[in-house]
Amino acid sequence: MGLEVSYFLNVSEGVETMRLAVLASGYGSNLQAIINGVKSGAIDGQVVVVISDQENAFALKRAREEGIEALFLDPGVFAGREAYEREIVAKLQKQQVELVVLAGFMRLLSPYFIKAFSGRIMNIHPSLLPAFPGLDGVKQALAYGVKVSGCTVHFVDAGLDTGAVILQEAVNVYDSDTEETLQQRIHKVEHRLYPRAVQLFIKGKLHLEGRRCLVNES
Ligand code: GRF
Repeated sequence: MGLEVSYFLNVSEGVETMRLAVLASGYGSNLQAIINGVKSGAIDGQVVVVISDQENAFALKRAREEGIEALFLDPGVFAGREAYEREIVAKLQKQQVELVVLAGFMRLLSPYFIKAFSGRIMNIHPSLLPAFPGLDGVKQALAYGVKVSGCTVHFVDAGLDTGAVILQEAVNVYDSDTEETLQQRIHKVEHRLYPRAVQLFIKGKLHLEGRRCLVNES
């Protein structure tokens, strides 16, 4: 007989503002959406550190402009993936981070990292998972010829975009679409969906039953 395990992920409910970290490799428009959510009061949290594996990531510039600690950590100078992640985890722990938000962070996290922030790492992916995981989700969807794609916010496990789905929203694919036009429309939805998912987590509204993430919107 199977044992159903259900539990509330957010043990910090009641804490006024949750300490968030964002990991990003590139442009950082989702980072900006989260920062904007914090500023507008839509997110009861604060971005305390932004970490990138790319020195010139625009995301780092955005963070600095907002007065947020912005760190470039070069994977090339560490002995391997785990050594690199130990450094990231140390920085996150130093900042007492409670939720790690991946926003275009182009590295697969190892079980070491996942364990260090178990149930406290989110990612956003530009397709309706489990369709088109991994790199170039938008390009893959166009090449396959789907009529509907979208985006997914999910918890991160050790697999490639395989963690429990938190929120998803569909975006129509038109015959006239190029990768750029579809990407743009998906991005717009991402910028709405990701702050909402973060706030649901902060408010303790996400409830895991097996791999189903139930959302209590009330
Ligand atoms: C987004 O499309 C997200 O779905 C994917 O990487 C992209 C990051 O975009 N994981 P940005 O850097 O937030 O603008």
